[in-house]
Amino acid sequence: MISNNHKNNKSQFIPDAARTLVQVKDLVHVYPTGTRALENINVSVGEHEKLAIIGQNGSGKTTLVKHFNGLLQPTEGTILVHGADTRKTRTAVLAKTVGYVFQNPNHQLFCVTVAEELRFGLRNLRLPPDEIEQKVKETIELFKLQPYLDVHPYSLSMGARKLVAIASIFAMGPQLMILDEPTTGQDYESKKILSQVIGMMYESGKSIVFVSHDMSFVAEHADRAIVMSRAHIVFDGSLPDLFIRQDVLNEADLRPPHITQLSQRLSDYGVSPRVLNVAEMVSEVRRCLA
Ligand SMILES: Nc1ncnc2c1ncn2[C@@H]1O[C@H](COP(=O)(O)OP(=O)(O)OP(=O)(O)O)[C@@H](O)[C@H]1O
Ligand SMILES: [Mg+2]
Repeated sequence: MISNNHKNNKSQFIPDAARTLVQVKDLVHVYPTGTRALENINVSVGEHEKLAIIGQNGSGKTTLVKHFNGLLQPTEGTILVHGADTRKTRTAVLAKTVGYVFQNPNHQLFCVTVAEELRFGLRNLRLPPDEIEQKVKETIELFKLQPYLDVHPYSLSMGARKLVAIASIFAMGPQLMILDEPTTGQDYESKKILSQVIGMMYESGKSIVFVSHDMSFVAEHADRAIVMSRAHIVFDGSLPDLFIRQDVLNEADLRPPHITQLSQRLSDYGVSPRVLNVAEMVSEVRRCLA
């Protein structure tokens, strides 16, 4: 176990109360099988955040985020969404604030066409039909789904199916969108769409939490990372701070993205070891050569 204090893992990033979207207090989750998937979790998600949750298989990432919209209820502890206890708030009400895209899209898609899938959540929000059609149209354009509208979601590849699942939650316009492993099975074009969607949501003041094993994607898109290991949060902070924490990286079996590893190797030559992407590397090298 690493030195970061598991037993009292209060988040370093507790946003001010008025801006807190989700607050998790002393959360423990034990599945009916007896598996203790979460122990003593204390964490907050603020408004206007891009937060990545990372960690090895089975470390508790999905179990944690499923508490954010009431899909799972705590065994011990409390989850507040905009101050409302998820135990006392209906899932339909929580869904207006927090949208969760399942790790496995097969758990989410059950309409017979892609177009119907996009309308489904909007109808549940009881929006007027013309508003529903407008939102569906905008979502189709953004996600480039025109060729698939009349197609059964199950006839699509896993990656495309995942994109439809993300699109159907995006269309509902939640304040916080949770993407559980969004890049799995995605090709370059789909990842580009995903990047655009995350950027658009963030620019409009929303928050995005994504669970991912894809460290380049994490470095490109997150401002803050939570690392989970064996049911605990072992790190909560910025990406550059994470990538120099060898103890946390070892504990969670993580590797910084190649570009960050390169910057660390070049630090003897004056390059900052905190580089996260190509643009930052170019400006660091230019600075060193000036
Ligand atoms: N429905 C369930 N019933 C019983 N145990 C479960 C259930 N779902 C998850 N678990 C167990 O809880 C622990 C945490 O699982 P979880 O799915 O939250 O991990 P994860 O970090 O999301 O993993 P992955 O990276 O593989 O998606 C694991 O030991 C897992 O086997
Ligand atoms: Mg998972």
